[in-house]
Amino acid sequence: MKFLQFSMLLLPILLDALLSFSMGASYHEDFLQCLSLRSNDSTSISNVVYTRNNSSYSSVLESTIRNLRFNSTDTPKPLVIVTPSRTSHFQATIYCARKHRLQIRTRSGGHDYEGLSYVAKVPFVLVDLVNFRSVDVDAENRVAWVQAGEIVGEVYYRIAKKNRTLAFPGGVYYTIGLGSFISSRGFGLLFRKYDTGGDNVIDAQLIDVNRRILDRKSMGEDLFWVI
Ligand SMILES: *[C@@H]1O[C@H](CO)[C@@H](O)[C@H](O)[C@H]1NC(C)=O
Ligand SMILES: *[C@@H]1O[C@H](CO)[C@@H](O)[C@H](O)[C@H]1NC(C)=O
Ligand SMILES: *[C@@H]1O[C@H](CO)[C@@H](O)[C@H](O)[C@H]1NC(C)=O
Ligand SMILES: *[C@@H]1O[C@H](CO)[C@@H](O)[C@H](O)[C@H]1NC(C)=O
Ligand SMILES: *[C@@H]1O[C@H](CO)[C@@H](O)[C@H](O)[C@H]1NC(C)=O
Repeated sequence: MKFLQFSMLLLPILLDALLSFSMGASYHEDFLQCLSLRSNDSTSISNVVYTRNNSSYSSVLESTIRNLRFNSTDTPKPLVIVTPSRTSHFQATIYCARKHRLQIRTRSGGHDYEGLSYVAKVPFVLVDLVNFRSVDVDAENRVAWVQAGEIVGEVYYRIAKKNRTLAFPGGVYYTIGLGSFISSRGFGLLFRKYDTGGDNVIDAQLIDVNRRILDRKSMGEDLFWVI
């Protein structure tokens, strides 16, 4: 079996460490106002923002809580959930979270048993990548670009639709989110022959704390290796 080399769009990481925090303000009102001011494209960011007043807030939050220990009333909840559907939504969220001293938790799929991607002890915004899912397969060159919220089952399916002799060494469970699978060095059934999924990543895009979109070349080899 041939395998597919791989590139991915990996989104905000390394952000929390760079944010300081102070208690006491009306963070989320300011944050929301900031978001609406920053959002100037046709798909308004307000369509992907959920406050606790929003009737869908709980279902979005609970959608990938698998460890029910974190589905309790005393689990700290995000002030706001953002489900970005375009890059500018991330950039606005990063800008406004920094400005209003909110931390960001980023969630890319369904296998976080420790709540690390959706629980924090400080006021925070949850960025859920549920709308950031696309797979663009170039079968001829055996590469694909995949967005970080995609699940590996969908990646397998999209590749197989293009060419049944190509594959990617993803995870065992089809519902694993690709962004966290890659960045946590996840492995699966093709591991012994093709190493981890991360070993087959040839490029990546990320948005840094200054909202710049960086690829492998502009982020440098050290950061690329880290992610
Ligand atoms: C608004 O959009 C334009 C073009 O898409 C961009 O150059 C500009 O920086 C945006 N402004 C804000 C405040 O995001
Ligand atoms: C909840 O949020 C969604 C997405 O931002 C929005 O479309 C919907 O109108 C909101 N509903 C309420 C009741 O605020
Ligand atoms: C919910 O709505 C009430 C009244 O409309 C408002 O005072 C409050 O700030 C809102 N809370 C959130 C979390 O948006
Ligand atoms: C999580 O808690 C909510 C509120 O108590 C409940 O409605 C929901 O069914 C729970 N989710 C699961 C998967 O048990
Ligand atoms: C599928 O990929 C293999 C390996 O790259 C190639 O030899 C074959 O021609 C491809 N088949 C189709 C139908 O594109």
